[in-house]
Amino acid sequence: MQWLPAFLLLAQLNQKPKGQVPSARQASCGYMKLKVDLIPLRQRKQKPTDPLKLEFGTTFTDHMFTMSYREGMWNDPRIGPFQPLSLNPAAMCLHYGQGVFEGMKAYRRKGKVYLFRPRDNILRLNSSAKRIVMPEVDIDFTLDCLKDLIRIERDWIPEVSGTSLYIRPTMIATEPKLGVRASLEYLFYIILSPVGPYFREGFNPVKLLVSEKYVRAVRGGIGFSKTVGNYAASLLAGKEAADQGYSQVLWLDALDRQYIEETSTMNVFVKFRDELATSPLDGTILPGITRDSVLRISRDWGLKVSERRVSIHELLKGIEAGTVQEVFGAGTAAIIAPIGELSYQGTAYVINGGKTGDLTRRLYDEILGIQCGERQDSHGWVLSV
Ligand code: COI
Repeated sequence: MQWLPAFLLLAQLNQKPKGQVPSARQASCGYMKLKVDLIPLRQRKQKPTDPLKLEFGTTFTDHMFTMSYREGMWNDPRIGPFQPLSLNPAAMCLHYGQGVFEGMKAYRRKGKVYLFRPRDNILRLNSSAKRIVMPEVDIDFTLDCLKDLIRIERDWIPEVSGTSLYIRPTMIATEPKLGVRASLEYLFYIILSPVGPYFREGFNPVKLLVSEKYVRAVRGGIGFSKTVGNYAASLLAGKEAADQGYSQVLWLDALDRQYIEETSTMNVFVKFRDELATSPLDGTILPGITRDSVLRISRDWGLKVSERRVSIHELLKGIEAGTVQEVFGAGTAAIIAPIGELSYQGTAYVINGGKTGDLTRRLYDEILGIQCGERQDSHGWVLSV
């Protein structure tokens, strides 16, 4: 029989544990101990019958994790019902954009549950938080709380190929104040959403519009961090691209408007005949964990891999000449997404005949295989929950 911590056993018995429930496995960190307040089984929501049909990020599980920051300390870590937040209308996140988040996934295959490089996500959350003067979280404690939340919600993790449980850790400024400075109070929470593929296209080539009119980030700005403002800045370009039938925008650098950077949800890779290239981490793009995994796996496979600037002209000329063989995106939500067409200055450039390339497919299979515990994890990236 599978071993369950005491508070989970109570939940299984449909009793509502109150307050702090002692358990050897329950997360604690110095002065803090996780409290768990579970919804009785009969009051829990219906789970999706066909997770492959779910619209990304619209269905949420029964419980969430919350922890608040006051007087220089994190306090009151708790797993409780998923519910609306109560925020003062003057909460500083609503006015000055102090908000950061992460995206990660849990996979359930053959009864086992896996997280992929979760520490790296928490490290990146801290790096994003630091950039906009928000407090960092304790990495081990946060990971322990996340694991407890995932164990509680494990029945929500779909098992079908192409599905997972998307995890959204989020931190927002909650102090009610209209003066412009960093907030003194914060809320950190983690919500969970069962998901199918990120793109409507599934694992089929997507079309991107190269943005000439708008830019996403400049060096010295916040482009490398997962702050809410970065996403707000991308929305108008994204809407205009969608109106023209494109899935997303491919951003160019803000200064020269020449070098490709990333899309709003993925880092971008270009496979030339003898090189796999991606934009360097110079402060304007997100340091993607999937990006890093692609780089490391490709190096393991003996490919020549470069983190270098690729100009839009080099890319388009290469597509026309056939020296660019594949282009793909990499990100947590999308994993690996083939890119079949780019539109720039009104001209469409079709990549690899609009078909998914071999390397793109191979990387997708390898990364997903590792994430699901089905392929060898030689880098020690996977954490069994
Ligand atoms: C992710 O890939 O996890 C992202 O955060 C991208 C997007 C869904 C915001």
